[in-house]
Amino acid sequence: MTIPAVSYKQFGDIQRPVAPVGTKRWIVLYIMITAVLLTSLACWNNLSGGSLIEIFRDDGDDVPPPHTQYAKMARYLVHKAEWVSMGSLSTVDAIKGFPMVNIISVADSARGEKSTGVLYFYLTMLDYTAQDLHKDNRLTVMLTLDQDKYCTNNGIDPMEPTCARIMISGRADKIINGTDEYAFGSRAMFSRHPAAEKWIKTDGHNFFLCKLNITQIAVLDFYGGPHYVTVEDYMAADPDKQLAVADDSSKSNSNERQIPPRFSSSTPITVE
Ligand SMILES: *[C@@H]1O[C@H](CO)[C@@H](O)[C@H](O)[C@H]1NC(C)=O
Ligand SMILES: *[C@@H]1O[C@H](CO)[C@@H](O)[C@H](O)[C@H]1NC(C)=O
Repeated sequence: MTIPAVSYKQFGDIQRPVAPVGTKRWIVLYIMITAVLLTSLACWNNLSGGSLIEIFRDDGDDVPPPHTQYAKMARYLVHKAEWVSMGSLSTVDAIKGFPMVNIISVADSARGEKSTGVLYFYLTMLDYTAQDLHKDNRLTVMLTLDQDKYCTNNGIDPMEPTCARIMISGRADKIINGTDEYAFGSRAMFSRHPAAEKWIKTDGHNFFLCKLNITQIAVLDFYGGPHYVTVEDYMAADPDKQLAVADDSSKSNSNERQIPPRFSSSTPITVE
């Protein structure tokens, strides 16, 4: 049964069409069904540890490499990272020489483009990290697989060795504006960090582009302590090639730990 819609237009009112009762009832029913469906989807997703969302996400080949592929794991984490925890040696009076950390936005390529393995980032001298690196450009950055909650969503505590992390030590090198590398690095940064375009335009902030010139990479992605990856192995590993997994383990004797001499000796760290 449909009741004819009647509406009274008052002076100054804007006339709104009134849906007949039959249509209204259908709309209410649609809303109720949608609400029930969304609620059950949300519950299902929670119960399955968020894995339902992953089904809908287009990340078919976004799976971490096997834990024995240390160089590849490092390249995988670097390419995925949009930020790192960066440690520098503090130059602030009260904590001079102490390790100090900061969050630094990074990019190793424009989003969706091929990995380069080279981390680019902007710094400003207004910030303590740049001030520290100006005195001593040695730094270590840390990246974890849990940066996008991968471990947490899979029930792995971020401190467990199975929640992969890498520590890259090296030096911050400033890149000169006008070079091809500057163009590449800034485009990569703007692609992943649109805010960076605003940073460099802000008067007096004088952001400058840097890259991390790597000395050594420590990969901790399983029980038994970190594995040290050389820059050569790191640069040679291509995280975009999912099929070439088998070659690298036969090439480098992956069961043998490469511990650099300065980690095995008991020489104290000298502070200048
Ligand atoms: C780099 O140089 C270009 C061209 O001279 C200029 O437009 C841009 O603002 C410079 N970038 C920075 C961060 O100074
Ligand atoms: C890293 O720094 C060393 C020493 O300053 C230099 O010889 C080398 O070319 C740099 N590497 C890159 C990739 O810029």
